[in-house]
Amino acid sequence: MKGEIDRNRLPKHIAIIMDGNGRWAAKRAMPRFFGHKAGMEAIREVLRACSDIGVKILTVYAFSTENWNRPTDEVSYLMNLLIEYMHKEINELNKNNVKVKILGDLSPLPPTAVEEIEKAIELTHNNTGIQFNIALNYGSRAELISACRNIAKEVRDGKITVEDINEELISNSLFTEGDYDPDLVIRTSGEKRLSNFLLWQSAYSELVFADVMWPDFGKEELMDAILEYQSRDRRFGKIK
Ligand code: IPE
Ligand code: IPE
Ligand code: MG
Repeated sequence: MKGEIDRNRLPKHIAIIMDGNGRWAAKRAMPRFFGHKAGMEAIREVLRACSDIGVKILTVYAFSTENWNRPTDEVSYLMNLLIEYMHKEINELNKNNVKVKILGDLSPLPPTAVEEIEKAIELTHNNTGIQFNIALNYGSRAELISACRNIAKEVRDGKITVEDINEELISNSLFTEGDYDPDLVIRTSGEKRLSNFLLWQSAYSELVFADVMWPDFGKEELMDAILEYQSRDRRFGKIK
């Protein structure tokens, strides 16, 4: 670690683009699946570390609306992995007072996956510890389209007027409704793009790009990312 983090200036919400599972596996001459499995294992340590230091929300990008365009065997592997993760981790999550929330449209997911997810949401519903958002079949553009449609319907039905459309209303029409915007967005694997992740919500997020592949990202790398975050000057358009 590159220093001590300041506990009084922690990001309340950290969002992570967990990228590089395939390359992690390829470097080991293993199939991509192997990397996804290792990637799933990596979540535990990072969630635990966030919870321990007092981060309020951790969001992870697990599957994008574009990831359906991968070969079908990879997509079904990822879906099965998700079912396995939910099934295996749910009691531990609940014991640790974690509250699970999903960002994304679950309707195209396999029914068993939806079942496991709904069980997890239900079980952890009243938990008061860290909120764990899993972005699943998530894409910012799809999210914004759906928000626009819902708002348009409300205007059409006379429930609100055009003038009622403001930042708050739009924020409350997104999957992240009620959450703080992410203070810190981390992407692993050295890629420097958002790939359709939290475009509205990250308007003023600090972006940190870590070179390690996701399966190698652990507590130490998380602390380094927080240190980097704390070294930034967040001006929000103002001047000092
Ligand atoms: C991230 O790793 C996990 C998902 C997108 C589901 P990748 O599968 O994108 O791994 P790389 O980027 O090909 O190495
Ligand atoms: C972003 O990673 C999506 C997830 C981490 C779930 P991708 O690997 O799909 O993104 P691109 O294709 O490199 O932009
Ligand atoms: Mg990738």
